[in-house]
Amino acid sequence: MTVPLLDLKAQHATIRDEVLRAVQQVIDAQQFILGPPVEALERAVAALCGARHGVACASGTDALLLPLRAWLAPGDEVITSPFTFFATAGAIANAGGRPVFVDIDPVTYNLDVNQVVAAVTARTRAIVPVHLYGQMAPMAALLRLAEARGLAVLEDCAQAIGARQRVGGAWRMAGELGTAGAVSFFPSKNLGAWGDGGMIVTQDEALAQRLRRLRTHGGAKQYHHDEVGTNSRLDTLQAAVLGAKLPHLAGWSAARRAHAAFFSDALRDAPGITPPVTDEANEHVFHQYTIRSDRRDALAARLKERGIGCAVYYPKPLHLQPCFAPLGYRVGQFPQAERAAAEVLSLPVYPELTADQRDAVVAAIVEFRP
Ligand SMILES: Cc1ncc(COP(=O)(O)O)c(C=O)c1O
Repeated sequence: MTVPLLDLKAQHATIRDEVLRAVQQVIDAQQFILGPPVEALERAVAALCGARHGVACASGTDALLLPLRAWLAPGDEVITSPFTFFATAGAIANAGGRPVFVDIDPVTYNLDVNQVVAAVTARTRAIVPVHLYGQMAPMAALLRLAEARGLAVLEDCAQAIGARQRVGGAWRMAGELGTAGAVSFFPSKNLGAWGDGGMIVTQDEALAQRLRRLRTHGGAKQYHHDEVGTNSRLDTLQAAVLGAKLPHLAGWSAARRAHAAFFSDALRDAPGITPPVTDEANEHVFHQYTIRSDRRDALAARLKERGIGCAVYYPKPLHLQPCFAPLGYRVGQFPQAERAAAEVLSLPVYPELTADQRDAVVAAIVEFRP
């Protein structure tokens, strides 16, 4: 049996008619830029994230870039994780900032708060915690630090839409507590468009207004430009697709959690395998179900031989990327991120996975003897 890492066709088959209906309405209305479905989606996603405002834009990358452009002066430092997709740090650099990497917590793969504390300088302007694989970074501690040092917090929610964390006894959503949160609608994300898309969520009305200007060349009125912005809007067609999919997201996340629980139970005693750990404050949305193995590459090769999809997110930490060589980081500086990059392996966890497919994934791992 083959089990792909992700099967978007299986999802599409379950919602085809509703999504096509929504797309057909956009085609009939012919309002392709900032049409009514965009604003409807902004309201719905903001509400899901516990935020007052949603500003849709062209990608998750731009959802990181636009707030950073609003905040940073050239050379400002922004603390983030070296163990994330490139866009997190690329956006900092593209906004004129200097990425400052700190090591991760080896259990959750998220920022190690003690290291963030130690990295703050007089030039620090913001922290970008990444809610990696769908589990939130420790927001209470990061927010305490940010408040004490006057820093903005931009949550990278690209992998974590709908995730939540208990903070002070109450559930708080990914994107709710930071100064802003960046969502990605890349097709493989838990809520995926039929192309690129993203959204910034925030409680701050003035910031939301500024972001709306920045995404339309810096002008609130046509042909009047208060500052230099860019063209970064979510297509109405994509908003319609996402609006039709959104009501299914909670069920999809629950299915991902159920698959994850099954795998973690079945792999508990598998030699050399460490299943993922969910911090007890968190409700995970398992964008990825990621195990560790000290024989990772051999295991990945075996799974592929057996027709089981798997992938490494991410094989090279960002402090070691050639483009960041001028920042002066060296091998061995962030041992947890470097070890994770050598050991992690993500398995299929998409909602439509069948019981037989789950069994096939477990069997291929359990029988693996390096
Ligand atoms: C952690 C993280 N940040 C940012 C992004 C960028 O999102 P996009 O691909 O929509 O630009 C992604 C996804 O690709 C991501 O996984």
